[in-house]
Amino acid sequence: MNASGYAFLGLTVIVAGLAATLTFAMLRFAAAARDTRANARGGGAETAFLSAALQEAVTKLKAQERATAARAEASERLSGEIISSLTAGLLVVGLNGEIRILNPAGRRMLDVPEAESADPYHRSAREQPLFDVIDECITTRNPIVRRAVVLGDEGSGATHLGVSVSPLSDEHGAMHGAICLFTDLTAVKGLEEQLRLKDSLATVGELTAGIAHEFRNGLATIHGYSKLLDLNALPDAYRAYVQGIRAETESLSQVVTNFLNFARPAQLALSRVDLQAICERAAEEVRPDARALGGDVAMDGEFGVLDGDEVLLRQAFSNLLRNALEACAGASVAPRIAIHSEVDAVQRVSRIAVNDNGPGIAPSLRERVFTPFFTSKRNGTGLGLALVQKIIVFHNGRITVGSAADGGASLQVTLPTIS
Ligand SMILES: Nc1ncnc2c1ncn2[C@@H]1O[C@H](COP(=O)(O)OP(=O)(O)OP(=O)(O)O)[C@@H](O)[C@H]1O
Ligand SMILES: [Mg+2]
Repeated sequence: MNASGYAFLGLTVIVAGLAATLTFAMLRFAAAARDTRANARGGGAETAFLSAALQEAVTKLKAQERATAARAEASERLSGEIISSLTAGLLVVGLNGEIRILNPAGRRMLDVPEAESADPYHRSAREQPLFDVIDECITTRNPIVRRAVVLGDEGSGATHLGVSVSPLSDEHGAMHGAICLFTDLTAVKGLEEQLRLKDSLATVGELTAGIAHEFRNGLATIHGYSKLLDLNALPDAYRAYVQGIRAETESLSQVVTNFLNFARPAQLALSRVDLQAICERAAEEVRPDARALGGDVAMDGEFGVLDGDEVLLRQAFSNLLRNALEACAGASVAPRIAIHSEVDAVQRVSRIAVNDNGPGIAPSLRERVFTPFFTSKRNGTGLGLALVQKIIVFHNGRITVGSAADGGASLQVTLPTIS
């Protein structure tokens, strides 16, 4: 073999080597591509699985969030319903005294209109005693249990509350306000007062009726003897004395008779009584006198029916009308007397007001006018209103004094009715 033969052989070997290397590289590349494809196929399934799981978790979380929101809303609605359905008043106050919650029952008791938003810092003078108890709880950080509080003037317009206050603390025990529950005890107080009155009237009756009776007998004897004295047979100088004794014993025995009427244990002769008829008859008795003075007695409104003592009830309304007439006459005004009645079907009571245009009754005297023998009249016995009160109380009612629209007196009678 010559040199060119060797060169050709060498070249062929090189070309064959290059071709083998190229083929091997191609095969490796194909294998790698296959592997890569296979890998790529496996990784896609994993990603899909992960994203599905993620999706599910997100859906669950959203459902949970919705359920939590619904629960929170339901529990908020429930607490709202509880607060507004409470028959007791609920007042939640912050440490600075600002009102956070005042429920509808509380609004009614404190006379805060339903529509008006409770001014967080508003405290009227009337409500102050209630806030004083809350302030005491905030200052001492101690609960206050069943404290009696009176709002308004003692007497006719007062509201009696039973109040309990507790400090309001967060989950770490830090106090951030006070929660106050209060109930209106005015009706209970009224009943207590009625019972007390009945008791004391019965005691007064028992104690004094016997003495008054003896007194009347004594007076009758003196009066009888004075009548036996023949005025014509007496020297002129003594006649006036005997006449004085007669007049005085007569008026004293009138007082004693009135007192006995008042003190006598009340025995009601019950029958079905129409309050309108009672008031009409009482008005008829007084109307001629009122007209003679240039005035009149008017009646309006709705009257109820009750089981009561007709004679005593008529006497009670006659006394009220006569007082109204006398008050106007005393002030020299033409008496315009008005009987106005309303029926409260819920409470099953009739409220009857006897109003006049006289001088009225000063607030300081509004309790005292019912005391036996309290009178501002020269010839009054002061037993009229005491007897009226006794009659009303024995019918399980009550009587209070207020002012009529034109400044005169307003005697307000509340009687339980059957219709
Ligand atoms: N309508 C009224 N207006 C103003 N004052 C009144 C009225 N009614 C009662 N009073 C006051 O109350 C007092 C007590 O009244 P009450 O009827 O008990 O006795 P009286 O009228 O003075 O005497 P009596 O009724 O025994 O004749 C009266 O003296 C009067 O001062
Ligand atoms: Mg009178």
